[in-house]
Amino acid sequence: MKAQNLLKVPTHVSIIMDGNGRWAKRRGLPRYEGHKEGAKALEKILTFASDLGIQWLSVFAFSTENWKRPKEEIEVIMSLLVEYINTKLDKLLEKNIRLRFMGRLNQLSDETLQSIKEGEEATKECNGMNFVITLNYSGRAEIIDAINKILKDKKESISIDEFKNYLYIPEMPEPDLLIRTSGELRISNYMLWELAYTELYFTDVLWPDFNEEEFLKALYSYQFRERRFGSV
Ligand code: FPP
Repeated sequence: MKAQNLLKVPTHVSIIMDGNGRWAKRRGLPRYEGHKEGAKALEKILTFASDLGIQWLSVFAFSTENWKRPKEEIEVIMSLLVEYINTKLDKLLEKNIRLRFMGRLNQLSDETLQSIKEGEEATKECNGMNFVITLNYSGRAEIIDAINKILKDKKESISIDEFKNYLYIPEMPEPDLLIRTSGELRISNYMLWELAYTELYFTDVLWPDFNEEEFLKALYSYQFRERRFGSV
């Protein structure tokens, strides 16, 4: 499979990176080892997506429900993230990638928030790919947060187009393609508003095993789909 054969590159690809825990369990390792491997897989896909000319890549890193996990596991995910920002900024700048975060960010620890701000600030002039990490995110929370902003603005009614301006990143185009790994066939409260017309791609591959070839398979599947957006 070759990237040159791609006829159509989606503008926005989003990924639910699932299966880190099972990947570790199958190897008799603690769950956090799966997240560490997952972070490596993400790095490969980030570079590949940027080289392919994809304009937006977003990933589901931590949901508002993930706080129910063991404290140790949460700490590993957050520290991987902080480490990621601290060590990968040069690479993001070199590749002209703008790093952005979305979710209920003000509920994160000071250390995590500080890194997020640094990462966003350092890459804010980059105009290549946008890389969005959703953190402490849930689709319902995003819609409710939007509604609360609308109430604060004392609006009496609002159109669909206006509503979009109240989402976390108003200028983010809706995903063209959503990939979910590890064989789960659910949306799991992810980008509920934005996914209205998104093409879905599910694979049994666990996230730490996901690589460039698997990503290309998803893009191939996408390019032969006919998107009608409700028309005939
Ligand atoms: C889902 O697998 C994965 C997560 C909840 C965390 C995703 C985190 C990373 C890929 C690493 C760090 C991220 C960044 C942005 C550097 P799961 O634990 O639910 O797996 P399971 O369903 O097999 O238990």
